Amino acid sequence: MIKVENLVKKYDDVVASNGLNCRFEKGKITVILGGSGSGKTTLLRQITGLEKPDSGSVYFDGTDMTRMGKKQIYEIRKKMGMLFQGSALFNYLNIYENIAFPLREHTKIADNIIKTIVTMKLEMVGLRGTEHLMPSQLSGGMMKRVGLARAIVMDPRVIFYDEPTSGLDPISTGVIDKLIKDLNTTLDITSIVVSHDIESSFKIADKIIILFYGEIIAEGTVEEIRNSKDPRVKQFINGAPEGPIPFTRTDTNYLDEILFD
Ligand SMILES: Nc1ncnc2c1ncn2[C@@H]1O[C@H](COP(=O)(O)OP(=O)(O)OP(=O)(O)O)[C@@H](O)[C@H]1O
Ligand SMILES: [Mg+2]
Repeated sequence: MIKVENLVKKYDDVVASNGLNCRFEKGKITVILGGSGSGKTTLLRQITGLEKPDSGSVYFDGTDMTRMGKKQIYEIRKKMGMLFQGSALFNYLNIYENIAFPLREHTKIADNIIKTIVTMKLEMVGLRGTEHLMPSQLSGGMMKRVGLARAIVMDPRVIFYDEPTSGLDPISTGVIDKLIKDLNTTLDITSIVVSHDIESSFKIADKIIILFYGEIIAEGTVEEIRNSKDPRVKQFINGAPEGPIPFTRTDTNYLDEILFD
């Protein structure tokens, strides 16, 4: 469904994508795992056409998106649903209007049909009856679910999730994991999930890709990743502080300073 070839993206002296090659199969859930700053969001932004790579290609159904004009990319993006890191709901709109937004923006669907669609999508994420609430009245887990309802409102063929369970308690995480899996099956959709939650990823993934400083260091089924001999992969999935992955200041070092200075 989506194929990435020799993708390169640099920001000044940071190589966020260092010649990436991978595939995202139709109807499957692929999880992109990696530490903070490993290039997960950057990869997602390039696949969704939000960002242009320096070089390389992103094929969507066989057509290279990097060679498309703005209008063509806009058309393709209608087939994509996105749950952004942090939900990205509009604070000034109630839940109903948040979910209806893409329909109003991209279609001429009549109000009564919009109402039916929004009700149906809210039902799918288990939030029927919350139409009138404002985002500030929701818990983090509920916000993610509203974001998810909005992501599927245009009946996309692919859904992208950026950190869908970050900051959630274990029960809300379980609810989101189950939703991702259920939606993938019932809507026969292709799912691409960015995460650093290893336990969640192992529960939902058909395939896992692990990024490390802009490079793919492992790719395979949950079983294959679990059995990987690569010390970097082992360290990452075991969450070990000592090992070949140098932890940057943004990860843990600052804690020492705060706690012991
Ligand atoms: N717009 C930008 N300008 C400059 N540097 C950027 C930009 N976007 C990303 N980067 C850099 O590229 C690298 C990869 O960033 P990216 O956001 O893709 O990481 P990530 O894996 O999504 O991390 P996290 O788990 O913290 O969300 C980082 O070093 C980041 O600082
Ligand atoms: Mg990110």
